[in-house]
Amino acid sequence: MENKAYERLMTAYEDLKSKIDFKPELAITLGSGLGKLADVVEVEAEISYSEIKGFPISTAPGHKGRFVFTHIHGVPTVIMQGRVHRYEGYTAQDTVLPTRLMGLMGAKTLIVTNAAGGVNKNFNIGDLMIIRDHIVQFVESPLMGQNIKELGTRFPDMTEVYSKEYGDLIEEIAKEKGLPIHNGVYCQFSGPQYETPAEVKMVGLLGGDAVGMSTGIESLAARHMGMKVAGITLVTNLAAGISDVELSEQEVIDAGEAASEYFIDLVLEFIKRMNK
Ligand code: HPA
Repeated sequence: MENKAYERLMTAYEDLKSKIDFKPELAITLGSGLGKLADVVEVEAEISYSEIKGFPISTAPGHKGRFVFTHIHGVPTVIMQGRVHRYEGYTAQDTVLPTRLMGLMGAKTLIVTNAAGGVNKNFNIGDLMIIRDHIVQFVESPLMGQNIKELGTRFPDMTEVYSKEYGDLIEEIAKEKGLPIHNGVYCQFSGPQYETPAEVKMVGLLGGDAVGMSTGIESLAARHMGMKVAGITLVTNLAAGISDVELSEQEVIDAGEAASEYFIDLVLEFIKRMNK
């Protein structure tokens, strides 16, 4: 039976495969201001999103749009330097297409990272939060429409989107390194506008600790196809109303750059020690 979403994904996949011969075990998605990780690894191959047939192209400032292929501690890895956002006008399904592509290429594990606003009053700018769970019901599901049964089941379980084992290991490493680390729930909104103070208050009441415009639906799509997920948030600002500073894109990018060294250090150590 015809399934448009699957056809689109397979068009991109076949095109990518014809251009690059690489089988990653690990996939990493880099968030705003965190793209430097892809600059410190040895780039074995790269491909711009614009070269891939049917690929939704990222326009977000601070985001490069390319896949980087590399080995990190011997693990074949694909890095998404620059992601696709729902607020750029893509459907949720298109937004997760790159994540699905990395899974189809062979990645069994996904490390997702993002910049987010801190909702939890104990969070400071520059802190890291291990994503232990998420709230994505404010954004349409990328699984809506005909199920792609080649990827996963119609009603996938979401009890442990973010691997507890991975979260615990990240926490252990961050504590060893003396990094400012928290555990929390990430809440995804569509954006592109930042939240109002009332919306941020609501997130807190619902049990959210950080708020952002990505990640949740990517993680859920990865989980749908059986990938194991680890999520790390960098708190780049206090969410609206938590502090009286006006939010700006530049603040988010600057905070990402300021944290990039310890953030990269944490991710690399995690890859070294994780059970693949
Ligand atoms: N809200 C939503 N997304 C964000 C924020 C925020 O405060 N900071 C960085 N990304």
